[in-house]
Amino acid sequence: MAGSSFGNIFRITTWGESHGKALGVVIDGVPAGLKLSESDIQPYMDRRAPGSSMISTPRKEADEVEILSGTFEGKTTGCPISVMVRNTSQHSSDYSAIKDIYRPGHADYTFDAKYGFRDYRGGGRSSGRETLCRVAAGAVAAKLLKELGIDVCSYTRSIGPVSIDPANFDRALITTLPTCMPDQEANDKALEYLESVRSEADSAGGVIETVISGMPAGIGDPVFDKLSADLAKAIMSIGAMKALEFGDGIGVSSAKGSENNDAFRMDGDKVTKATNHSGGLLGGMSDGSDIIIRSYVKPTPSIYKTQETVTKDNEDTRINIEGRHDPIIVPRAVVVVESMCAITLADALMTNMSARLDSLKTFYRQ
Ligand SMILES: Cc1cc2nc3c(=O)[nH]c(=O)nc-3n(C[C@H](O)[C@H](O)[C@H](O)COP(=O)(O)O)c2cc1C
Repeated sequence: MAGSSFGNIFRITTWGESHGKALGVVIDGVPAGLKLSESDIQPYMDRRAPGSSMISTPRKEADEVEILSGTFEGKTTGCPISVMVRNTSQHSSDYSAIKDIYRPGHADYTFDAKYGFRDYRGGGRSSGRETLCRVAAGAVAAKLLKELGIDVCSYTRSIGPVSIDPANFDRALITTLPTCMPDQEANDKALEYLESVRSEADSAGGVIETVISGMPAGIGDPVFDKLSADLAKAIMSIGAMKALEFGDGIGVSSAKGSENNDAFRMDGDKVTKATNHSGGLLGGMSDGSDIIIRSYVKPTPSIYKTQETVTKDNEDTRINIEGRHDPIIVPRAVVVVESMCAITLADALMTNMSARLDSLKTFYRQ
């Protein structure tokens, strides 16, 4: 299968299926000397794992990480880091009923159209479980970014019709509330909405917002490897992501230039902007302001209502999905988006090291 690697210098390759023996990621290009142990990665995995609330799948996934290579005496060696999670909670028999039937909204039909053969247990590589590999790599990238003073923070902005109120923003709530909203009131309303959706055997979607602060200006490579293009690829490669916005996003199409342009101004010897409609990106490069991204997530395709579909043998039929599915993907995908952003930034920053002769001279002549 092509397409399992991402990045140039900070490069990840994910492997494994949701109902196979294990899943994992190989992370190449991490500089030597970064303090790293399982305890740096596990909290990220715990944020992605199903919780105990009613909005989470009843699957119990311990998702315990093991670092297999690339560290010695608690530090990275500069060699490939391999991280593995063993699968311990598979109920593969739940899926035998859909072996020859395509789940609407899932990747069963397109996998068969492409390969003529698929791992139907839990969706194989198309399962949301693949994203745990990205989160393991994201934890490493985030640790690297922290050393450079860069912070990536993703949270749930909306679920169905319920949006957060920026006036209530409390970062500590993102990792404690079941919706991953930074707003207690919106969380409570969203839970009510999800209860009604769930009682109808249905599912819901929503929006994840990401704020990246501390990025220096000028990161990203024109013309095909723009930071905006790489972030879009990173996020749109996550299952169930359907649209993206940077800064004012689709709103710019109805704004005037005078409204949309961010005036530059000096703050001491630093170039800053009076506003941030651009969302921290100009010409595909970071402009030194916060990078603002909104990722739009579709409702979980596996719902418990009877649906019309077709069989592998081209017959019309109906499907009743079993198995254990999230009634909403958004809260579990928050840390996945954060991780893919961190991986993209780490790669862009390392690629940028070769942009200027001055930087090379400073490095090699010191
Ligand atoms: C963290 C996460 C968890 C997911 N959990 C489920 C799930 O429980 N059931 C399901 O049908 N889809 C789930 N998905 C979505 C499917 O993986 C995705 O919709 C499918 O691969 C089809 O791809 P597409 O939606 O991009 O077209 C999840 C996705 C993510 C990112």
